[in-house]
Amino acid sequence: MARQPVARQTVARQVVASPVLVGRDEFLALAGRRLEDAATGRGHLLFVAGEAGIGKTRLVTSISRRAERLEFAVLRAAAFPGDAEATGGVLLDLAGDLRRAADAGWRDVGHALSARLRDPLAAQGDPHRQRRLLVQDLADLLCDLDPGRLLLVVLEDLHWADQLSLEVIGRVAVRLPGRATLMIGAYRSDELFPRTAMRQVRGRLLSQRVAEEIRLPRLTAAQTATLAGAVLGRRPTGSEVAAIHGRSDGIPLHVEELLAASGVPDTLADAVLVRARALDPGVRDIAAAAAVIGRSFDFDLLTAVAQDAPETVDRCLRELQSVYLVQAGADAATFDFRHALIRDALYADIALPRRRQLHERVARVAVERGYRDEFVSAHFDEAHLPGPAYWHALLAAREAAAASSHREALPLYRRAVRNLPDGSSPDFHATLLAALGAEAAAVDENAAAAEAYEEA
Ligand SMILES: Nc1ncnc2c1ncn2[C@@H]1O[C@H](COP(=O)(O)OP(=O)(O)O)[C@@H](O)[C@H]1O
Ligand SMILES: [Mg+2]
Repeated sequence: MARQPVARQTVARQVVASPVLVGRDEFLALAGRRLEDAATGRGHLLFVAGEAGIGKTRLVTSISRRAERLEFAVLRAAAFPGDAEATGGVLLDLAGDLRRAADAGWRDVGHALSARLRDPLAAQGDPHRQRRLLVQDLADLLCDLDPGRLLLVVLEDLHWADQLSLEVIGRVAVRLPGRATLMIGAYRSDELFPRTAMRQVRGRLLSQRVAEEIRLPRLTAAQTATLAGAVLGRRPTGSEVAAIHGRSDGIPLHVEELLAASGVPDTLADAVLVRARALDPGVRDIAAAAAVIGRSFDFDLLTAVAQDAPETVDRCLRELQSVYLVQAGADAATFDFRHALIRDALYADIALPRRRQLHERVARVAVERGYRDEFVSAHFDEAHLPGPAYWHALLAAREAAAASSHREALPLYRRAVRNLPDGSSPDFHATLLAALGAEAAAVDENAAAAEAYEEA
């Protein structure tokens, strides 16, 4: 589709990230002590908890800088929405970071991690034993990373993490007290719903005192005033502070976004949309396609979905970066929305028929390019195409179940059942429900298991 060249738009105001970190001194000091401990061979696992936009990434970035000054090597990985269905998602992300490392030893570990994750059933024996060996092997690989060097491992957005990755992280954590590694895991406390893998792993590690936790509070009115002052470059008036503190609830992301729109919009979503709607329609289309792909998106996938020339997509992405909606990701070809809530606001603004059409394109391109079945099935599901949504969900569910990733298999079986084609035989329906019941039982969802068996 031919498009007009993207004109530079004047937006109400640019978003300015606060140049100073407000109100987090005591947490920086605590992290500083934990870095010193790690440097003397007494490593640790530190969780950073708090709601979306409260400043977890920002704090962890400050800690990482401090660690680099102390000559720690820093490794980063993150979980993404949908990872709860992707066995080993966080570890795959970590493996990607390692494979890009300058250090040849790290690159080897990165390749070994990916290979072991691709072949979860390498060991002999029953599924339970295979799973134990898999966790053990992956933990051993990670423990090979730090011989003779100080290491900080940052794991972000663990509320989305899959069970296998968390089991491995837990296994590594108990070994940290004898190593020069500080591990930091950040997660959204308001997304730890019952039955998320992180909720259980966190509870266990905290009660066994294998981990400790920083809980980031909202900013007070005075701290909000300091933040607003730093962003605006002038002292805000009393009524400005009252309006911003009232509407942001002292959440720094909201403060920054609200300050970027003229007047003070009511919500973060309003503030984001004021900025997005001022953009050229071509740029907005690219933002919409990207938001449908997800929080994080690949340049080539986006180009194929948008059905635009790569140069056009590149130009639009630069525009989106300049207005601070998008930022460059871990490598040159990936991008992230600046914050998951920004992606959510843009996504919610896309009309339903268009949204479905974009999901369908994402799914079809993803199939051609060999993306994982859980990703493909999620997009077909959102596109309301039950046939392929069913089929890819079933493939992904079976794969997860074979690797004893029950917590991941369960939602995939649910998706398969929800999308079961109309003409399917009752026998097959029953088999599928029984498989769902088995996965529910494996993760102690006994009521759900009983219901599935009953229906089967
Ligand atoms: N304590 C703080 N002082 C100043 N700015 C902050 C603070 N915490 C967060 N921010 C800003 O708010 C925005 C959202 O923070 P982020 O760390 O991404 O949130 P989270 O990771 O908790 O969702 C970022 O632009 C960040 O720079
Ligand atoms: Mg974050």
